[in-house]
Amino acid sequence: MEMEKAYNLIKQNTLYRKTPMINVENILNLPKFVNLNMKLENMQHTGSFKIRGVINQIAHVDKNAILNRSIVATSGGNYGKALATISKQLQLQCLIVMPNHAPKYRVETIKKLGGNVELVENNMLQKTADYHVQKDNMMFLHPYDDYNLIAGHASCGYEILEQCHNVDIIIVCCGGGGLLAGISSSVKPCLPNCKIYGVEPYGASKMFQSFRMQTPVTLENVDTIATGLAPPYAGKITYDICSRNVDAIILVSDEEIKASMAKCYETGLVVEPSGCAALAALMHGKVPGIDLKAAKENDLPVNRGGDYEEIIEDKTENLWPLSNDYIQYSPFFDASSEPRVQQALYEDGSGVKLNVVVVLTGGNISPNDLAAIVNSQREL
Ligand SMILES: Cc1ncc(COP(=O)(O)O)c(C=O)c1O
Repeated sequence: MEMEKAYNLIKQNTLYRKTPMINVENILNLPKFVNLNMKLENMQHTGSFKIRGVINQIAHVDKNAILNRSIVATSGGNYGKALATISKQLQLQCLIVMPNHAPKYRVETIKKLGGNVELVENNMLQKTADYHVQKDNMMFLHPYDDYNLIAGHASCGYEILEQCHNVDIIIVCCGGGGLLAGISSSVKPCLPNCKIYGVEPYGASKMFQSFRMQTPVTLENVDTIATGLAPPYAGKITYDICSRNVDAIILVSDEEIKASMAKCYETGLVVEPSGCAALAALMHGKVPGIDLKAAKENDLPVNRGGDYEEIIEDKTENLWPLSNDYIQYSPFFDASSEPRVQQALYEDGSGVKLNVVVVLTGGNISPNDLAAIVNSQREL
């Protein structure tokens, strides 16, 4: 199987790390039945999960073709950083086309790693890359809509399965959907009842709209602090995989993202805005089945006995509404397939624990930006 092969290949590369999974039950006011774990991809080599996919993506490029050509790619920073790192390892040339509002810090880092950088208007990213393919005979690599890249990202899902047995819910942020497609395709076949949620900013809701329209959507504008989650379109490949394996897409605001960044910082973790959108969804009570109000009021009934089935059936609709302004379920979503979430919710106190994994995807942020966001949250 391609994903397993990719995992074996990635493990052999000295530039990859198996990232830690930490248990953080006490940092949020979550219901007692939630066993919260965070998968720390912000501690991955190059500061984000991207290196996983890039190792496998480059391994599949035709070696003869690539020897005489440079690679060109578009990136907001993290993909470019991973690509520059692996290109250097293999002694290949690469050009990263970045938006001209990309933080200087990211541009400089990519250059230090040996990558060339070209800065252009946001709407000229793809056109510039296409130009270099045609005029300079460069080879284009896609930053998310690529089977080999996705198969590499799937390694993160295999590690989650190794590090958290019987995981019930996985929450992952979504940019173009490469990571979400990768994790969901390694986890779902192993654990079909595990709920997988993708999280996007309101200002870049491409996978959310794609689930709603049941086809990959391109947005006219994107506007969010989470630049890594802000490509304007969901990929054809990523949409196809996510619509089959991901249960729903949840939207969060930039303010919710900033609050979750500050929470990570309090816990000793440096996470960039794109990296903590998934935590923002959980922290703000947007994940189905994890109701923060109920946790506070502690008003959950214990051991409902005989009428359990009836309660579950009755409550399923509330737990999984077909859609609202911040949740869009997959076109293939089947709410009846998973009793574990309801069981934990309605048997709070009985020892039924829900194993939840939040993936923190990246930690590349300049000290100034980090301080500005964390301080703005302290003043609130
Ligand atoms: C930190 C971080 N998280 C998440 C993403 C989104 O990844 P994908 O485009 O695979 O959905 C990115 C993309 O650049 C990122 O940099």
